[in-house]
Amino acid sequence: MLDVEKIKRDIPLFQNYPNLIYLDSCATTLKPRYVLDKMDEYYQEYGVNIHRGVYELSYRATEEYDKARKKIAKFINASFEEVIFTRGTTNSLNMIAQTYGMANINLNDEIITSELEHHSSLLPWMQVAKKKGAILKYIPLNDEGRITVENFKKVLTDKTKVVAITYVSNTMGYLTPIREIIELAHKQGAVVIVDAAQAAPHFKIDVCELDCDFLAFSAHKMLGPTGIGILYGKKSLLDKMDPEEYGGDMNNDVFHDNVIVKETPYKFEAGTPAIAEAIGLGAAIDLLEKIGFDNIRQHEKELHKYALEKLSSVSGITIYNKTADIGIINFNIDGVHPHDASTFFDQANIALRAGHHCAQLVTKWLKCNGTLRACLYIYNSKQDIDIFVKTVQEVVEFFRQFSEV
Ligand code: ALA
Repeated sequence: MLDVEKIKRDIPLFQNYPNLIYLDSCATTLKPRYVLDKMDEYYQEYGVNIHRGVYELSYRATEEYDKARKKIAKFINASFEEVIFTRGTTNSLNMIAQTYGMANINLNDEIITSELEHHSSLLPWMQVAKKKGAILKYIPLNDEGRITVENFKKVLTDKTKVVAITYVSNTMGYLTPIREIIELAHKQGAVVIVDAAQAAPHFKIDVCELDCDFLAFSAHKMLGPTGIGILYGKKSLLDKMDPEEYGGDMNNDVFHDNVIVKETPYKFEAGTPAIAEAIGLGAAIDLLEKIGFDNIRQHEKELHKYALEKLSSVSGITIYNKTADIGIINFNIDGVHPHDASTFFDQANIALRAGHHCAQLVTKWLKCNGTLRACLYIYNSKQDIDIFVKTVQEVVEFFRQFSEV
């Protein structure tokens, strides 16, 4: 197991809320002091703009910004040119739909997606389909609610142009058989866009091994700051794509009627970027690598198993994803609206998410009007689980009195 106490000591928010049981890491993770210090260092020691100033401080800022991009490229086994800084996963996925999608999707082309998608993976392609007269097809989920290779084959045709798919479901915690799907999609000439927002915090991603065409994730879900994310794209595709935004720093030459844009990644980064946040993401990656993804996975698995075992003795709850691959428990207290239940959890200092988790099609597939979601991460302990399960029991008992009158 990880040294949870040490990890918690290094997160300032826990100093202010020592009793907090934070089970909402799929929404955002808490930020370690090291990450905050690195961003502070930028603002206090060399907080000027990049790429523009011909002076020492600007060289340093540019160097640190570039260093962060190099770190991220190495982290996912991409090249420097293939890593684009964006505002987050949502921004990355919209950018691909608006650039690659609008340029390459035509009438009656098929776009494959799934009901497990976060709205950020689904809605940008729904808009492209509407505007272009393309057909949005959903991979049928199996009885457990998973995407399977077998069901993917049922919707894949020679008209498939894009597969927009989640790597890990933010609601069910299921891992998509992404490698097989990518291989099959490529045989039909389709490109695959992977939403890796819930994958990057938990295990190592290798874009070369996956052979995905595009992949997106956010810093804030992996110990980093808000407001920054990554869009990975294969260089051969990025080279052919037009920028989504035009402005400062993305061009080489400007004429009265034309502009020569820079090479990737710079042509996709118009305007002053989130410099401190890029440096913060680099610091978060340093920390995750120091802790080690094998240790993170093992810790989460042990906690998850422990939580499911303890919850199995509580009657009056429904768990929708007992076989989840990532430490996400998606559940309901029978007969209780998730928002009512979460108020109770809040009073017990337990932060978890209630509702449809920005993935309404999953909730509809589960045939309920919302769920409670508890997400486990590196700063959670067995003690947290004990308190969480005890509170679940209390919520059941509290609401039972009303259903019995
Ligand atoms: N995408 C985030 C979640 O799953 C906000 O909660």
